[in-house]
Amino acid sequence: MSENALTSCRAFVFDAYGTLFDVGSAVNRFKGTIGDEADRLSSIWRQKQLEYTWLRSLMGDFTDFWSVTGDALDYAMAAIGKKDPALRAKLMETYLSLDTFPEVVETLKTLKSQGHKLAILSNGAKHMLISAAKSSGILALFDQIICVDDLKTYKPHPDVYQLAVDQLELSPAEISFQSSNGWDIAGAGHFGFRTAWINRTQQPMERLSHSADVVLKGLDELLPLVAQPEKA
Ligand code: LAC
Repeated sequence: MSENALTSCRAFVFDAYGTLFDVGSAVNRFKGTIGDEADRLSSIWRQKQLEYTWLRSLMGDFTDFWSVTGDALDYAMAAIGKKDPALRAKLMETYLSLDTFPEVVETLKTLKSQGHKLAILSNGAKHMLISAAKSSGILALFDQIICVDDLKTYKPHPDVYQLAVDQLELSPAEISFQSSNGWDIAGAGHFGFRTAWINRTQQPMERLSHSADVVLKGLDELLPLVAQPEKA
């Protein structure tokens, strides 16, 4: 393996939603009930969920990711003109058992078997993250599930990335941060992490101050870049 930006990393820290868990899988499970507006509902829901985290951080008016996700869903349902409390409840429930992307489980298992430290660092509330990770069978692979519940602000605030440094007891340059969200990669790079942008859907690069160290089409593309600790 040739030297690359991730060679010296001793821990792999993952964003959750959109990176490990497919947020689109919630609406996908109810496509038949929702009809033609399903894709629009899904995309407004996700966009509003992110916006509300950033806006609440700026306003200093934190509420946890479960509430933000519910508020965003209410906005999205209103935007497509759908009033259906039973569907709302089912969509929220589904957030606790989202699908993982196809390569996620095997990649995490391989990294773990190579002796790497693994963690989630997410804006998600702890109960949401634990539930989704348990339901997809990946919970036991993580050394830490790091969330913002106590900090009461959201990524990309640098204090959130600092949580991983404190809890893993490593320097930022020893941590490789994986996210599918370009804004999160910019925040993590600005903080000082090594970054791998998992750009599954060929999104354009964000025009922010930091770009990714490596850009991959899936998490499995990490494996050839990673040093195996016991052989290093
Ligand atoms: C996360 C979301 C916001 O932090 O992608 O998991």
